[in-house]
Amino acid sequence: MSTAQASVGVIVVAAGSGTRLGYGLPKAQVPLAGETILAHALRGVVESGVAARICVAVPAGDTALRQVCAGFAAQHPEVDISTVDGGASRAASVAAALRGLGEGATRVLVHDAARALTPPEVFQRVADALAAGARAVVPAVALVDTIKTATPSTGAEADIAPEKVAATVDRVQLRAVQTPQGFDAAALVQAHQSLAGLAPAEADGITDEALLMERRGIDVMLVPGSARALKITTQLDLAVAEALLAARQPNIMEGWIVPQFPYPIPRTGIGVDVHAFAPAADPQPLWLGGLLWEGEQGLAGHSDGDAAAHAAADALFSAAGVGDLGTHFGTDRPEYAGASGVRLLSEAARIVREAGFEIGNIAVQLVCNRPKFGPRRAESEAVLSEAAGAPVSVSATTSDGLGFTGRGEGIAAVATAVVVSVR
Ligand code: CTP
Ligand code: MG
Repeated sequence: MSTAQASVGVIVVAAGSGTRLGYGLPKAQVPLAGETILAHALRGVVESGVAARICVAVPAGDTALRQVCAGFAAQHPEVDISTVDGGASRAASVAAALRGLGEGATRVLVHDAARALTPPEVFQRVADALAAGARAVVPAVALVDTIKTATPSTGAEADIAPEKVAATVDRVQLRAVQTPQGFDAAALVQAHQSLAGLAPAEADGITDEALLMERRGIDVMLVPGSARALKITTQLDLAVAEALLAARQPNIMEGWIVPQFPYPIPRTGIGVDVHAFAPAADPQPLWLGGLLWEGEQGLAGHSDGDAAAHAAADALFSAAGVGDLGTHFGTDRPEYAGASGVRLLSEAARIVREAGFEIGNIAVQLVCNRPKFGPRRAESEAVLSEAAGAPVSVSATTSDGLGFTGRGEGIAAVATAVVVSVR
C-alpha cells in the first residue's frame, strides 16, 4: 500500500431514508442488479484502490447494511471497513463518520452511497488532486440542458401558468457536482465542528461538503466527474442504473459466466430414448410423436414406446435439473405403468413448472428408417406441443444404413429443451 493510500480515509454516507425512491427501505439497501446499492458503491471505492479505511454511515439501528459492510470486509481484508450510526441530516451523517474514521487519515473523501456506479477513475482523480496539494476537490460535469431562472407569474398570467422565466443563465459557467468530494482532513473536521448546534433546517441545507469549504474561503478544485456517477434518487434513476449495469455485462453469447446477469439465464437439457421394434410374433401398434401409425411395425416395451415423447420428457427433467424419467415415472410409481408418451410428457411439463421453471421450447430428432415422418410432422408437433404447453419441434433422419436404426431394429430419439427459472 502506498503512503498516499495509507493516509486517505473514505466516508460513505448511506444513512438516508430514500423517501423519493419510495421503496420502503433505506435507499442504500434497495436492490440494484441483484445486489444492494451500498454494495455497488463500496465496490467502486475498493476498486479505485485510493483508501485503506472506509467508514460507512448507516441508518441508526440498521442491521442489514451493516451486514453488507461485513460481507464486503470479509472479501476485502486489505481494506478496513467500519460502520457508524448516521444522523438526521446528511451533514450529521458525515460528522458521525468523520469521528468513526478516527485519527490517522490526513485526507478524506466523502461519497454518497446513492452515487453507486461512480467509476473508480473518479475516485482516483479526486485522490490525485489532493495528493498534488489541493485542500478541497470536487468531481463535476457540464450541464446539457439550457438553464433558466423562474419567477412566480402575477395577475392574469397566473391563470395560464404559475411561473414564468426570469432570465437565462449562461450555461458555460455552470457545473453539476458529484461525489466523492475530497478534503484535507483537518479542514473538513474544523468545518464540521463549526456546524455543531446547527438547527435541523439549516443542516438540511448543507447538501455537500464543498459548500462548507467555500464558506471558509478555501479553493475548491474541479476534476472531471462522470455521467455514470448519477445520484440514484427516483425510480427513473434506478432504472437508468439497472440499464447501465446490464449494458456493461459481457455478451452472454460469447460464453461468459455473468454473475450479475440481470435476467434469469436459460437452462438447456438433453434426453435420449431408444426402443426396439416388437418381434413379428408379437405385433404392436406403433405410437410415435404422439400419433398412432396405422400399418407400421410397433415398438416393444411396457409403455407405448413413444421414443419422441419420452426423449422430450427426459430433456425437460434434465433442463430443470430434477432427475429423469426413472426418477418420476419409475417402477415405484405404478400409476404411470402403461401411460402414453403424451401423458408422460404433459406430466413432465407440469413437474418442471411446479419446480419453478417456464418452458422455452423442446426440439426432438428421430433417427429411424420407418415410419416416413415428414408428411405427419405438423400433426405430431401439434400434439406434443399441446402436451408440453410449449413449442415442440420434431425432425427425423436416417443413420445411412448404419447401426441398429440403420438395420431397422428400432427407433432412437434425441431431444433438447430450454427452461427458464421464473422464481
Ligand atoms: N444521507 C445520510 N444521512 C442522512 C441523509 C442522507 O447518510 N440523514 C446520505 C444518503 O444515504 C445518500 C446521500 O446522503 O447516500 C445523499 O442523500 P439523498 O440522495 O437525498 O438520499 P436520501 O436522503 O436517502 O433520499 P431522500 O432524500 O429521497 O429520502
Ligand atoms: Mg435526502
